[in-house]
Amino acid sequence: MEFLITTAPGLESLVKRECEKIGHDPIEVTDRSVRIEGGLDTLAELNVWLRCANRVYLVLAEGFATDFDDLFALAESVDWKKFRPKDSPIQVESVTHKSSLTSEPAIQRTVKKAIVDALTRKPGDLLPEVDEVPTFRILVLIREDKATFLLDSSGDPLHKRGYRQEAGEAPLKETLAAAMIYLSNWRYKELLADPACGSGTIPIEAAMIARNIAPGLRRHFAFENWDWVDPKFLTDVREAGKRKIFAPGNYQIHGYDIDAEIIEKAIYNSKVAGVATDIAFEVRDMTDSPTIPAIEAAMNRKEGATLVCNPPYGERLETEDIGFIHTMIARMFSDHPTLSGGVITNESEFIQKTHRVGLERRKLFNGSIECQYCYRKSQRKGK
Ligand SMILES: C[S@@+](CC[C@H](N)C(=O)[O-])C[C@H]1O[C@@H](n2cnc3c(N)ncnc32)[C@H](O)[C@@H]1O
Repeated sequence: MEFLITTAPGLESLVKRECEKIGHDPIEVTDRSVRIEGGLDTLAELNVWLRCANRVYLVLAEGFATDFDDLFALAESVDWKKFRPKDSPIQVESVTHKSSLTSEPAIQRTVKKAIVDALTRKPGDLLPEVDEVPTFRILVLIREDKATFLLDSSGDPLHKRGYRQEAGEAPLKETLAAAMIYLSNWRYKELLADPACGSGTIPIEAAMIARNIAPGLRRHFAFENWDWVDPKFLTDVREAGKRKIFAPGNYQIHGYDIDAEIIEKAIYNSKVAGVATDIAFEVRDMTDSPTIPAIEAAMNRKEGATLVCNPPYGERLETEDIGFIHTMIARMFSDHPTLSGGVITNESEFIQKTHRVGLERRKLFNGSIECQYCYRKSQRKGK
């Protein structure tokens, strides 16, 4: 079997590395996707363990389709009766790029018709419901006339770990928070602080990474509804995952925010995630002092420290402090060449300033907002 993992733009190399870490070498890495070969155990592992990916799909069919007849024939080659859970509503989505077939609605209609035809071939077969709760999601990707039929095994996107019951106005996707931490090369025993942590996504993801808690340990996946998949594959991966969790350690993970209500929410979320004892949350206004005392103290002790932050910025949150906060963080990276970590932002002055002091840049999207992740990797060795 072949699986196609979708990623946000800019995260392909991280997802590739994650796949390798859980023991599966990708056979292809392209724009926003990573491909893996494997069995149903692999499918369960990818869903449970990938921290930075969007969704895991099963490749059902692939071939060239320059017109709708080709597309229909390709759709007919799939054994839809085998794959579709009984009575589940069907949803077809599509993305086409540099191809002869350009109309996404027409692609979807064609593929839906082929599926419905296949499922109602015998007299007495009931017409499947289409477009209700999408428990059977098909994605048709067409790139340069090559069509790939994909079946969504994840269901809810993988950033929905299940722990974020409460969020503020502009929460960061959990997958993006994990990616920012990985890019900073954070050493788990070193201090990590997010001075504007909102609902706690960055500190919670950091604690889950440090304790090796699989992100999908407790959530539901679409492939649990597939009657041709033995539930044992997922149970085994979940049980093994529970055994791999490290006990709470002496981590120095800090989350601060000016808003007392959001800090309450962050604490609640960290409890749901099972990492409440690993994180110190505190109400704190960054404009109260020209630096972050915990980071300053770690730097003075000549220990490493990592600052990872998704600060407030204009398009999503209005605050007078935006400029001050960005200037303060830029100054900290400039004053402390061993400070690692990074900031996701679209504030051009900050991006230029931190680039001048040697921070790397990577284009990442926070929701639909194009940002830069300005970061410096920790040079320290070990965990
Ligand atoms: C973009 S949100 C962070 C969202 C967070 N990453 C999450 O996933 O929920 C920015 C946060 O900065 C906080 N903030 C704004 N001004 C601040 C200040 N002066 N000091 C500390 N935090 C501040 C806001 O309360 C908000 O929670």
